[in-house]
Amino acid sequence: MKVLGIETSCDETGVAIYDTEAGLLSHCLHSQIDLHAAYGGVVPELASRDHIRRLPLLMKEVVRQAGLGLGDIDAVAYTAGPGLAGALLVGASVAESFALARGIPALPVHHLEGHLLSPLLSADPPAFPFVALLVSGGHTQLMRVRGVGDYALLGESVDDAAGEAFDKTAKLLGLGYPGGPQLAALAAQGQSGRFRLPRPMLHSGDLDFSFSGLKTAVLNVVQGADWQPAYMADLAADFQLAVVEVLCAKSIAALKKVGLKTLVVAGGVGANRCLRETLDAALARRGGRVHYPEPALCTDNGAMIAFAGAMRLAAGERGAVARAVKIRPRW
Ligand code: KG4
Ligand code: ZN
Repeated sequence: MKVLGIETSCDETGVAIYDTEAGLLSHCLHSQIDLHAAYGGVVPELASRDHIRRLPLLMKEVVRQAGLGLGDIDAVAYTAGPGLAGALLVGASVAESFALARGIPALPVHHLEGHLLSPLLSADPPAFPFVALLVSGGHTQLMRVRGVGDYALLGESVDDAAGEAFDKTAKLLGLGYPGGPQLAALAAQGQSGRFRLPRPMLHSGDLDFSFSGLKTAVLNVVQGADWQPAYMADLAADFQLAVVEVLCAKSIAALKKVGLKTLVVAGGVGANRCLRETLDAALARRGGRVHYPEPALCTDNGAMIAFAGAMRLAAGERGAVARAVKIRPRW
């Protein structure tokens, strides 16, 4: 079956075609970074309008790249939530309308399920079961994954997500949007160890996280009497290290708790080099292994949604033909 995947939950328009026999046939992505940069963050109305402009063009392009016609598509999977309501509505309306016109099933997909399964699209995919560390702009979660649709939440952030903490801290340091990658780039030029930042909930005894205090700790440093702008890169390095150490310690604790040695990391923060190096080293010491999505599939994309839809179809889910357009922004 050839599944068209559509992702429009935030500021990337992603479209892809996944074939249950031949794998990923094509995928296209349009990032709205330039559109929102001047505002320092995503402007929901602008995001929706741009998704409307791009989606039909990207759909034609993925079909062309796959050497198919629109009539060859057997099902449509789309991100139904969580995300920005207006942005989600664009993808959901297009997906459901396309499915209705073609008489094929449409499958609403949870955005995080897409991220969670995205490492399975790599050349050397992990085998079930595994522990997944989901680190995106909206979520920080540890899950036990036994198979497609079999997910158990082990722990999550009680306040800001890791990506959100990166973005907010970048903003207060005066860095541009998107903050995460810029803060990481600055950290790479600095040296950690100058500032003593907290490791929130490191010893809480559970698998939950808290990142909002870290952002406040950074604010206190830059407002302190001893602050010098020349320390900026060092502060970025210490902030990054604090986030990474907590993520790493809790991931190891989660693996221990469920008795597994395979960790899967997904979501935008999974692109962070310091996080990867720290996790790789920690798992190697324990005879385990970390799996990541291909770099191009770390942030939001249509391929992970097409794949999640295809896995659900393969697991016997049928999807519906002709249903009202329903989105779940806070799913
Ligand atoms: O998964 P994603 O693309 O979108 C959401 O579903 O949220 O994740 C975006 C998040 C943003 O907060 C962004 O700042 C963060 O991932 N991010 C990074 C890096 N690249 C992206 N954070 C730290 N280091 C990076 N290299
Ligand atoms: Zn995402």
